[in-house]
Amino acid sequence: MNSGSLIIFEGLDGSGKSTQAKRLVAALRERGCDVVETREPTDGEYGRRIRAMASSGEKVSPETELEWFFADRREHVQRLIKPALAKGQIVVSDRYFLSTVAYQGARGLDSRKILEMSEAEFPIPDLVLLLEIDVAAGLDRVTERGAKREEVFEEASFLSQVAQEFAQIERPYLVRINAARTPDAVFDDVRQTVCEKLKLAI
Ligand code: TYD
Repeated sequence: MNSGSLIIFEGLDGSGKSTQAKRLVAALRERGCDVVETREPTDGEYGRRIRAMASSGEKVSPETELEWFFADRREHVQRLIKPALAKGQIVVSDRYFLSTVAYQGARGLDSRKILEMSEAEFPIPDLVLLLEIDVAAGLDRVTERGAKREEVFEEASFLSQVAQEFAQIERPYLVRINAARTPDAVFDDVRQTVCEKLKLAI
């Protein structure tokens, strides 16, 4: 059976995930790989609901948040991720279930249980690149790019909790990358990690 690869970028807001994801997608395509670029929250029904909630500043309960992220991911997996993997494509996603482990864990939910439920339900990634950066540096980058801060998810004290949750995750598919460097330096590590772990020559 043809089975593709699932590569995920994770990290705090402002860690440079989207930039690195784009660069990896470009490098893979240059090598002739068939790549699907995607992200979570998605633009589906639940993803739109999550974004509307985040930009309005109105919080919902942690349980509801968890339910919405799972519902969004369920749709994402069924509609895009599973079919792409079955066709042998490489899926590169900006966020996936470790975001729920870290962010909803930081909301006070049981992060170990979220991880367990996620791995039981969703395809296990081949590689997760966790881009590590200080909370303050990440927030500076978010502010610099002129983005409207999403108060619900981007408050410093909350993000420190998220960082602690990310720091506790140990998984064979998880590789940590120091993201407090230039995009070129970070990408050198991304490229090397992808080459080593997935045996892809890029
Ligand atoms: P983000 O990647 O910032 O999306 P965008 O920049 O396109 O709006 O995601 C929005 C927020 O959602 C981000 O602060 C992290 C949060 N989030 C969770 O809390 N749990 C999750 O499972 C995911 C995927 C994201």
